[in-house]
Amino acid sequence: MRESLEKTFAEIFGKKPEVFAQAPGRIEFIGNHTDYNGGVVMGVALDRIVMAAIAKRPDRKLVFASAKSGEKVCVDLDSIKKQPREYNWANYPLGVFKFLLEAGLKADCGFEMLDRSNLPSGAGLSSSAAIELASAFAMSKLYGFDADTKTLVRIGRKCENHFVGMPCGILDQGVSGFGKKDAIVFIDCLTEEFSAYPLPKGCKFWLFNSTKKHALVDGLYAARHNECMEAAKILSEGGEPRPLRAFSAGDLEAAKGKMTDVVYRRAKHVIDENARVMKTKDFLLAGDIRGVGKMLNASHESSRTLFENSCEELDYLVELLSGARGVFGARLSGGGFGGAVMALADSSFTSEDADAVSKAYEAKFGKKPSVFACESGDGAKVI
Ligand code: GLA
Repeated sequence: MRESLEKTFAEIFGKKPEVFAQAPGRIEFIGNHTDYNGGVVMGVALDRIVMAAIAKRPDRKLVFASAKSGEKVCVDLDSIKKQPREYNWANYPLGVFKFLLEAGLKADCGFEMLDRSNLPSGAGLSSSAAIELASAFAMSKLYGFDADTKTLVRIGRKCENHFVGMPCGILDQGVSGFGKKDAIVFIDCLTEEFSAYPLPKGCKFWLFNSTKKHALVDGLYAARHNECMEAAKILSEGGEPRPLRAFSAGDLEAAKGKMTDVVYRRAKHVIDENARVMKTKDFLLAGDIRGVGKMLNASHESSRTLFENSCEELDYLVELLSGARGVFGARLSGGGFGGAVMALADSSFTSEDADAVSKAYEAKFGKKPSVFACESGDGAKVI
């Protein structure tokens, strides 16, 4: 990928890149909508990445080229503004650069940048976090800005929250930054601590992208975010609002009468999901892969019934997969409302089995899901 990126960079900008960096996509292993509630979550960095190439230019322009369309977006370094919808792809690296400057990066001149990816976008694998982290690493190196991974992860999230306008938590950027081959990243989103647990040996991830994207997905994500904040406010009883992580299932039951049924169900999903993440951690440490699988299935069931961020397509994929040979568990992975289902399986689940799932899905919905067998991969780095 590096050679072809270098070649296209030279074609577009007439020079060689000075720095390359890469960052992976991620699977949300378990911990659905827990991150922005100060909860716990586990993710796995994938072996599919975004690679960014960058070089300084003598004036004060920031030029981003799109690998897809060849279009360029040119922004003045001294007045960085969010780009309109049709150039939204440029907002991810642009927002990252804005917050790097705010964090102390000194830029004596502008740059040219291009990236390339083998990560399917729109499949719920966080290609946007991968772009943010690859950009953050490349830009920091280019200007000699000495920032640690946690700082760059936080900047990626800040870009989503305050530049792109998506109220996400730290899961996607955290896993893209701190991922490790053969490891699951565990994040305590309250303390922003990252740790790694070994992936069960001989396991593989299968991803089935429903290819459905709800038209209102951003609005629905924000609506769930607001419902969780509402629950946290009620549970905090007029005091300084504490995140849902601070409350137990018992606290929620005691306050049930003070909230609408919808708000109660959203909070129940999050509070129970935090408990499932902790149990998953114990099962992993005990080598109990079947126990892990049960948690994955239970997480999906809770998304389906309580958080209502699943859909018919995802439910059907989970149903097909949960009964399949070699599959320990399956669940929607990521924000939901479309996107992908991930299955944790051993080698007895083969590509023929995956084809059978695809065919059954196609028979019901008239379209094929895209299927990827993924391995774990390393986190973001300069290469
Ligand atoms: C998206 C967000 C994450 C997280 C998940 C749901 O992937 O970007 O921060 O909230 O949804 O768990």
